[in-house]
Amino acid sequence: MAVTTTKKRKSKLESAALYPLDWLEERSGLIGGVRYFLFRKVPGDTSWWHTLGSATLTAFLVQLITGVILAMYYKPDPNSAHASVVHITNDVWGGWLVRGMHRWGASVFIILLFMHMGRVFLFGAYKYPRELNWIVGVLLLATALFEGLTGYLLPFDQTAYWATVVAININGTAPFVGPFLASILRGGAEIGPDTLARFYSIHMLLVPGALIGLIGLHLYLIVRLGVTSPPWSKEAADRPPDPEPQAPPRSGLVQPAPRPAGVRKRPTE
Ligand code: HEM
Repeated sequence: MAVTTTKKRKSKLESAALYPLDWLEERSGLIGGVRYFLFRKVPGDTSWWHTLGSATLTAFLVQLITGVILAMYYKPDPNSAHASVVHITNDVWGGWLVRGMHRWGASVFIILLFMHMGRVFLFGAYKYPRELNWIVGVLLLATALFEGLTGYLLPFDQTAYWATVVAININGTAPFVGPFLASILRGGAEIGPDTLARFYSIHMLLVPGALIGLIGLHLYLIVRLGVTSPPWSKEAADRPPDPEPQAPPRSGLVQPAPRPAGVRKRPTE
């Protein structure tokens, strides 16, 4: 008798706890989406090399969180920018840690990005059908490097100032568009208040927004296409080859169709 009551109470508690999730799932399908994302099948021989993408993502999230905290105290004005950075480091509680994480984290992010890209290249994971994801990756790389460039000026000390002068001058030497590019980056004839405000806005609004959008697209394509096995994979070698691709209905159009289960590569690869 006591056992049945405990069971009943437990199931009541369970359904009360799950109610908000059921409510959300019924109206959005979000829970099913997350479950699909977390429990989707990946090749059995994925290895530590495949964690480099997630490590890059983690480094990016750390940059986002620490950047938001720094923006609460930073002042994008040539007269107070450097002082505000010194204030963050010396006076704000935990400021030295957050600033250190953001400063060193920027290098960690870029290093991981290159390592991830190297892994994708060496595994041949940029080949069909993942070419588009490689292109998205290249855009991610360029955008991430631009994020580093715009962030470097923000402490507004001698190193930041002169490094930015060099970077803008290099951009200025590009054929045809160079002078135009340099003037857009400077926001005038010389580096000054307008440059700092411009770099700040690009660094904390434009580029992070672009990165979030591109990462979203990158992850969508990873879930859609799956990840590749290592080139030495016995498992991949044993898989049956793809059937012959169907002729597209009209030139330039590809007919979308679900890929047969377990098939990842074309016979030519
Ligand atoms: C913010 C930067 C990036 C993030 C957060 C990111 C994240 C990821 C993650 C989580 C994966 C799946 C797991 C893995 O293979 O490691 C992945 C796969 C992939 N990434 Fe990236 N990535 C980034 C930049 C790049 C760059 C720069 C490239 C190339 C230029 C690239 C190309 C690819 C490709 C082609 C795949 C599919 C690999 C496969 O199927 O095995 N990614 N990425």
